[in-house]
Amino acid sequence: MSTRTELLKLLSENTGIYLSGQKIGESLGVSRNAVWKAMQQLREEGYQIESRSRVGYRLKAKSNMLSYDAIAGNLRYPCELKIFDSVDSTNNVAKDLRPSDKPVLVIANKQTAGRGRLGRTFASPSGTGLYMSVSLKPDFDLDKSLYVTMAAAVAVCRAVETVAGIRPKIKWVNDVFHNGKKVCGILTEAQSNFETGKIDTLVIGIGVNCFPGSFPEELREIAGSLSSRRNSFSRGRLSAEIYNEMMTILSDLQSRTFLREYRSRCFILGKDIFIHPNLNDTSIRARAIDIDENGGLVVEYMEGRKARQIETLTTGEVSVRLEP
Ligand code: BTN
Repeated sequence: MSTRTELLKLLSENTGIYLSGQKIGESLGVSRNAVWKAMQQLREEGYQIESRSRVGYRLKAKSNMLSYDAIAGNLRYPCELKIFDSVDSTNNVAKDLRPSDKPVLVIANKQTAGRGRLGRTFASPSGTGLYMSVSLKPDFDLDKSLYVTMAAAVAVCRAVETVAGIRPKIKWVNDVFHNGKKVCGILTEAQSNFETGKIDTLVIGIGVNCFPGSFPEELREIAGSLSSRRNSFSRGRLSAEIYNEMMTILSDLQSRTFLREYRSRCFILGKDIFIHPNLNDTSIRARAIDIDENGGLVVEYMEGRKARQIETLTTGEVSVRLEP
């Protein structure tokens, strides 16, 4: 374990209690200078660490830690809860878990190899985002997995409204936007049984940019955060609410009632969009008309070979042209 990780563990086990630099150094077996450097690193990552001269350091009792108590206390559906400071990817952790009868909720403060759709990476800086995966043994067929992703997007919107007090929007199929920038991505992975046509295990991975964080240069134009003020809401509570809302919707997935809400939150309907068929660079202009009962996006082509034709897209990459 790195000094940073050991220090975080020690401070969180003693939340609210001052520990002297010397005592910390002794218990971690490192110099006071190394303690100071690790402390700075944690502060830069957003941990609220207070210091008092000749007394020491402490993690603020109300810091935005992803603590077991903060999360478990807000859960309304049973689950096995696993919280980590750092993992490669919460989806990987969830997929490697031993089978459980209960859903498993894996949450991390940071990911070192966060994965996005289509083999992309998902930037997952520490302290400012929420990275969670839910592993389930659902009782429905493979063809319902699109619904699950859509249901998760609605769950994120509802939870964000409750916890952060803003109304985010959805870009078909699974991106959540706020103020014109992407604030959440969802990656659903299924392990299926081809003989029964059923899904054995479903892992729904959700990454939320809560507060401004250090994104790679190429993402700064497109990625935003829910709030511009660090720690303005509890990430722990948000994770619990997302889980609660998701379980509520999934328990009644067959009725598809969540689709009405999905449509009302989907900001591309009625707008001109660009469709990238086969995920290549060529794009075709179309108008997004509706979301059908199967979760497909109904579009009318505006140009090219299919001009004025109406088609329903079930997968694919849609880039949206926002009105000036
Ligand atoms: C996308 O926008 O392309 C999907 C991003 C999904 C990111 C989440 S973060 C939690 C979970 N673990 C991962 O490695 N990916 C998902």
